[in-house]
Amino acid sequence: MSTVRRLFVCINQKSGVGEDVAKALQKELKIQNLKKLLSSGEKQQVRIQTCNCLDLCKQCKKGPGAALIVYPEGTAYGKVRPADAAELVARHLGLGQVVERLLLRDE
Ligand code: FES
Repeated sequence: MSTVRRLFVCINQKSGVGEDVAKALQKELKIQNLKKLLSSGEKQQVRIQTCNCLDLCKQCKKGPGAALIVYPEGTAYGKVRPADAAELVARHLGLGQVVERLLLRDE
């Protein structure tokens, strides 16, 4: 059985950084050959999707980067810049490790 893993990237900033982050993530998935994963014995497809607001605006709209959430696990990252895409793809998707420096914790 195959499931879909989705990365929702907010693009609701005037700077357009969210669009750039989404493009960089897409590019990294291809470069690192991780558009399809095998996680816990289950085949997963990875999709990058843009959205308008994730209600994490303090970590997104006014900062230098964008907010994004990875589903189904619900991990939220903030102030993500295009330069962070390679690490997010390699560590979070490839190795199943949270990228602590970008992680948003419940306040
Ligand atoms: S504007 Fe990006 S999370 Fe609200």
